Amino acid sequence: MKSLAIYPGSFDPVTNGHLDIIERGLRLFDRIVVAILHNPSKRPLFSLEERVEMLREALKDFPNAEVDTFSGLLVDYAAQKNARAILRGMRAVSDFDYEFQLALMNRRLNRKVETVFLMTGLRWIFTSSSIIKEAASFGGEVEHMVPPVVHQRLKEKFNPSAAPE
Ligand code: PNS
Repeated sequence: MKSLAIYPGSFDPVTNGHLDIIERGLRLFDRIVVAILHNPSKRPLFSLEERVEMLREALKDFPNAEVDTFSGLLVDYAAQKNARAILRGMRAVSDFDYEFQLALMNRRLNRKVETVFLMTGLRWIFTSSSIIKEAASFGGEVEHMVPPVVHQRLKEKFNPSAAPE
């Protein structure tokens, strides 16, 4: 049976750090479903549809990665998909507390779903969607930290005159 991992997150927006984890994950699993949480109580910069579009474009050269959305409990979604594991990226020690809490809660909720952590490449250790959004909002150049489609969409969000004709 082919192994499937769920890579969940907000992906607001997807960064090169996320793509690095997906690439590493595909060396361990046959398929990865990148699952974007639909969380009506949060106000993301990009709508769910925009995040799906950007991820699909960024993953067009990864035939074994697909994009989906989910709401409710992650472990329920993972079980419904018959996933072997939940995949999460770990950057620095600062990620550890939250990730540990999330993984243990998920295990408490469903003992059959394992969480697998992968370390991002060193070059992405300081990046996150939030810091990239903050830099971009003040006109900072983030081109080398995000896929080209995200770079373009960030420019359009924060500098509407950069929108294509
Ligand atoms: O990219 P993020 O925001 O760090 O991703 C967090 C995410 C989506 C993985 C997490 O919030 C999640 O799984 N939410 C769904 C609800 C859930 O199952 N929460 C964990 C147990 S209470």
